[in-house]
Amino acid sequence: MTKVSISILDCDFGNITSEIKKINENKVDFIHIDIMDGKFVENNTEKLFDLNKISLLTDLKYDIHLMVNDPLDKIDSYTKYNPDTITIHFENNSNLMASINKIKKHKINVGVAINPDTKISEIYDILDEIDIVLVMSVNPGQGGQRFIINTVDKVKALNERKNKNNFLISVDGGVNNTNSKDLLNAGADILVSGSYLVKSNNLNHSIKSLLIH
Ligand code: DX5
Ligand code: ZN
Repeated sequence: MTKVSISILDCDFGNITSEIKKINENKVDFIHIDIMDGKFVENNTEKLFDLNKISLLTDLKYDIHLMVNDPLDKIDSYTKYNPDTITIHFENNSNLMASINKIKKHKINVGVAINPDTKISEIYDILDEIDIVLVMSVNPGQGGQRFIINTVDKVKALNERKNKNNFLISVDGGVNNTNSKDLLNAGADILVSGSYLVKSNNLNHSIKSLLIH
C-alpha cells in the first residue's frame, strides 16, 4: 500500500492546532518535517517547527527530512521524537555511514535523499544499509516548486533494484495528482506532498486523488 506523508512546511503556523486537527481527520500516514540549516539550502527552518507541541496534537509519526550539511551531530536532536524515519542527504555529507548507523541504533528507519542532479548509481553501494531512498523531484529549499519530470525515470530505474536490495522509494517535491499516477506506476512507495495538500480545500479528496493508479 502506497503511503502519503504530508509536508507541513507551507501550512499556516499561526493556526497550527487546527492545521494538525485537519490532518488527523484525514487518512495520511506520516507528517513530513523539513529541517533546513541555511547552509545546505538557503532557508533555515530549524526553529520553525515546534515538534513537542505538534506531537501532543497528533498520534501520527514524523518523517523527518534533514536538509543540512553533515547531519551527524544533529541527528540526536530528532531521535527523541521517535519518528518513523529520519532522512539525511547523500550530498554534503562527509559522515554518511556514521549518520546511517546512528539513526539505525535508535531503531528508526533510515532514509537517504538524493537531489535531482545526483545519479542513482551513486548510492548503489549503500542500498543494503538503508530503508528508504527519498528521490527529490525539486531542488531542495522550499515548497511549492514544479515537479521535475525525469524523476519518474529515476524511480523506475531504482525500482528495478528493489528485489535485490529491499528498500522503499519515497518521492518529495511538487507531488500532486498530475504526476502521482506516473510515480505509482514507476514504483514509488511513499508520496511526500506539501502545498498540494496543505493548501487544498478538500484534503480528503486531494489525498485520494494522489492514490489513484
Ligand atoms: C523541499 C522539501 C519538500 C517540500 C514539499 O525542499 O523537502 O518536502 O516542502 O512541498 P511541495 O509538495 O509543495 O513541493
Ligand atoms: Zn522534504
